[in-house]
Amino acid sequence: MTRKKLTAPDIVNKKARGEKIIMLTAYDASFARMVDQSGADIILVGDSLGMVILGYDSTVPVTMDEMLHHAKAVRRGAGEAFVVGDMPFLSYQVSPHEAIGNAGRFMKEAGCDAVKLEGGEEVAAIVQALVRAGIPVMGHIGLTPQTAGQLGGYKVQGRDVDSARDLLSAARALEAAGAFAVVLECLPDRLAKVISQAITIPTIGIGAGVDCDGQVLVTHDLLGMFEKFVPSFVKNYAQLAPQMKEALASFRREVVDGVFPDPEHSFTMQLEVEKLLAAAGGGTDADEE
Ligand code: KIV
Repeated sequence: MTRKKLTAPDIVNKKARGEKIIMLTAYDASFARMVDQSGADIILVGDSLGMVILGYDSTVPVTMDEMLHHAKAVRRGAGEAFVVGDMPFLSYQVSPHEAIGNAGRFMKEAGCDAVKLEGGEEVAAIVQALVRAGIPVMGHIGLTPQTAGQLGGYKVQGRDVDSARDLLSAARALEAAGAFAVVLECLPDRLAKVISQAITIPTIGIGAGVDCDGQVLVTHDLLGMFEKFVPSFVKNYAQLAPQMKEALASFRREVVDGVFPDPEHSFTMQLEVEKLLAAAGGGTDADEE
């Protein structure tokens, strides 16, 4: 299926038309191809790759070079899909100059269509600078994993009046700064609904209820491939990890038992060649026939 290449304004227009936006993560070309073929609107090269792929305990250690390496692979598999590169911790907070340099690498070196960064009012000036430089930006508020320590851990945000008000202001600040969409992570569903109604750019929820303008999940979570930690908001649409482990164990068993590779998965030679080899001194199966 070839699809029209989406742009940031197309994604904003989907909200105006009341069409849900589908975003999924991918970290390599083969997953990007599958996600694209599933009909998702946006492929996010999330810094969650630090935990899912690289084995870190959080997203904090992820570097620009690691993100670019994976973003390039995703771009190669993603066809015409809209690809968003997730800016890693401290790649955008230091100065607008550095933020533009790093975001520019996602666009120029990895072929991303946009970048995502975490934070509200405190990053609004950075978002504005990126947008002015011609780089589409997706915001991310609520539970922001890069600063989860400051938030007291991986917890639902916006449960009291003050923090709910702060999150609404954060969403408005990102919209005013020129972001084309904003991820709402781990918010009460009523708050996510209020924010979604208060801004004209789409909200993309993860653990934020059904009233967001779109939804995102980490693909490995959705497929049941990442067993180390499964947040309660994740729905497993498949349970692949047990099946994958069983398949790997079967391979091991069959090799140990001499069952694999069987003739169907081996290459045979013409009888004449076997006879020639036998004549040259090597015993072959042809000797036995
Ligand atoms: O890094 C990531 O995968 C994300 C999504 C969970 C929104 O930021």
